[in-house]
Amino acid sequence: MANEKIGWGVIGCGAIGPWHTQAATEAQGAELKVVCDIVEEKAKKLGEEHGVPYVTSMDELLARDDVQAVSVCTPSGMHSEHAIAVAEAGKHILCEKPLDITLEKIDAMIEAAAANDVKLAGVFQRRTAPSSRRVREAVRTGKLGKLVLGDCYQKYYRSHEYYASGDWRATWELDGGGALMNQGVHGIDLLLWIMGDVVCVSAFCRRLVRNIQVEDTAVAMLEFANGALGVLEGTTSVTPGYGCNVEVHGDRGSIKLDGDTITAWEIEGEEPETAEAQDRGTASDPTALASTGHQRHIEDLCEAIMEDREPEIPGGEARKAVELIKAIYLSSREGGATIELPLAYEDDAPGIYPSQVLPVW
Ligand SMILES: NC(=O)c1ccc[n+]([C@@H]2O[C@H](COP(=O)([O-])OP(=O)(O)OC[C@H]3O[C@@H](n4cnc5c(N)ncnc54)[C@H](O)[C@@H]3O)[C@@H](O)[C@H]2O)c1
Repeated sequence: MANEKIGWGVIGCGAIGPWHTQAATEAQGAELKVVCDIVEEKAKKLGEEHGVPYVTSMDELLARDDVQAVSVCTPSGMHSEHAIAVAEAGKHILCEKPLDITLEKIDAMIEAAAANDVKLAGVFQRRTAPSSRRVREAVRTGKLGKLVLGDCYQKYYRSHEYYASGDWRATWELDGGGALMNQGVHGIDLLLWIMGDVVCVSAFCRRLVRNIQVEDTAVAMLEFANGALGVLEGTTSVTPGYGCNVEVHGDRGSIKLDGDTITAWEIEGEEPETAEAQDRGTASDPTALASTGHQRHIEDLCEAIMEDREPEIPGGEARKAVELIKAIYLSSREGGATIELPLAYEDDAPGIYPSQVLPVW
């Protein structure tokens, strides 16, 4: 199979599906073969754009022998069901974030991938940016000395039109949460990847502006396994959106990452670096997304298949951000109580937000 390409299929041709089709077209080692959406016009449009067939049933896509790997780009709360079907068809899986919205469903998809001997990779494209990798390397090799603080601020703006663009958006049933489970899961994954695991959390989640079921604003205090403390903030209700900022501080140095730009690098014994953030990416516009991260994910899964190794973000890794978000929701439901991780049990009751301000639009 040395020079063969991995035949690629994409399930879900909504907002993010086109990023996968574009990435699969450009990725070395992959060849886009087919796209699928239950809404025919979406599948047709995307298939025609790439000159590949389209289908309206996942089973039809999974029956194809020329497809070895599939991107799952359906609403978050459907990922496990669709990924398990892909695994049972003997095909490898690249699953959009979050892997799913409950740990039980995520564990089922991890088990299905293992049982069917296929690879399961999660999408967290912020990890693929050279700047993110450089920050992680500095932290992990001890350049910052003893780690003191690891913070992540994710201040986004999402419009009424955005929430109205899909009836699954901002629902407990299919989005599984709001500013954290949907938009914020990226920065939460990045912070955990840079700082390591969190051992306990205390949080408040609120719905301050939008008339949605889930939180539009959340704040959490974190304690990491390495002893450092940190703060997580996430919102989709501020104007303007500032995007995702990660700040890490040790007793020998500090680094700030604004989007994909390192805006401060001040480490004892090194020349300080500063920069202006270049652009704010998806801070206010969810479509302002480059496809290079998705391309890297597709190339990584192709290499993992060819070399029979784990992908860079295997299921167990992509699960961590969801576990922390579940702990944050649990803490908020219990009035800010301290919740220890790993989570001893999963409470899937929807959040209850006492200080609701409704509606503003
Ligand atoms: N990585 C990122 O930056 C990023 C950005 C946006 C969305 N996402 C994730 O991608 C996923 C999809 O989000 P979206 O914004 O594209 O949603 P969307 O609603 O725009 O698209 C989802 C599509 O899935 C289709 N679908 C539903 N059930 C299906 C089925 N059984 N078979 C085939 N198609 C089916 C829908 O018709 C719809 O077109 C979510 O999990 C979201 O969190 C990731």
